[in-house]
Amino acid sequence: MTRVLLTGASGRLGTSLRHRFAAAGRAFLATDIAPAADGAAVALADLADPDAVARLFAPDISAVVHFGGLSTEARWDDILQANIIGTYNIFECARRAGVRRIIHASSYHVHGMYPMADTPIGLGADLRPDSLYAVSKIFGEGLSRLYHAKFGIDCLAIRICSAGTPGTSREARIWCNHDDLGRLVERALDMPDLGHCTVFGISANEDALCVNTPDAGLGWVPQHGSAEVTPLAGAPLDPDDPRNRHLGGIFATWGHPDD
Ligand SMILES: NC(=O)c1ccc[n+]([C@@H]2O[C@H](COP(=O)([O-])OP(=O)(O)OC[C@H]3O[C@@H](n4cnc5c(N)ncnc54)[C@H](O)[C@@H]3O)[C@@H](O)[C@H]2O)c1
Repeated sequence: MTRVLLTGASGRLGTSLRHRFAAAGRAFLATDIAPAADGAAVALADLADPDAVARLFAPDISAVVHFGGLSTEARWDDILQANIIGTYNIFECARRAGVRRIIHASSYHVHGMYPMADTPIGLGADLRPDSLYAVSKIFGEGLSRLYHAKFGIDCLAIRICSAGTPGTSREARIWCNHDDLGRLVERALDMPDLGHCTVFGISANEDALCVNTPDAGLGWVPQHGSAEVTPLAGAPLDPDDPRNRHLGGIFATWGHPDD
């Protein structure tokens, strides 16, 4: 039996995936820099430490679900260590260990500087990062392309939109339900020929700001929409709210994190 290495296993989405994998009887090794709040077994390792990451790759690890790292804007050195060096360590240790599949968390913030008037954004749109965090996600997507094209590793980059409960009509348009995301990850783990894919992690929301066109060919159809969790679904965007000027919302309004 082979196992999946799940990074970020103590985080919000990692916890959700951990529970999903356990319920499905999927064998996995959970890792994070911090212990899990629910007391589950998590191998502690800093993604920025190549030796610690290499030790996670036991011979039975066949795939990686990489959800660890900083999940918002942060000072450059923190982004560099956790997201850039950390993601490199995951891809490179996976390659050296003979792992054939990597599913990793990117973000819709790679398009965050698009003016709202230009939405919805499709998968082929130019990259317009709204933060150093988003630049680190573009680095991860670059690794994904390289390690697929040159080393034949199947890769899925998921540009996750907003997985928290929507508090604004903008967030209702980019909501990503955990069950939809979990089915996407499971599909990418189990489908025979993944190749290289990029997809928005977004549910079937009214007036969605990001759309999965052209179709990524994954056969994944979201089953949920934000109307099930908020009356803000489909409500107009307040034009006076500065968070509604760009796709990336508040990220697009922030200055440099080191100032
Ligand atoms: N939640 C969302 O709406 C959303 C949207 C877009 C992208 N994403 C991406 O999805 C992934 C998971 O998001 P989340 O909401 O669960 O984030 P989270 O912050 O809740 O979890 C991230 C986990 O990574 C761990 N981590 C941070 N630095 C680390 C390091 N140096 N070494 C090892 N582990 C480290 C943290 O301890 C944490 O448990 C992240 O990559 C995030 O950027 C999330």
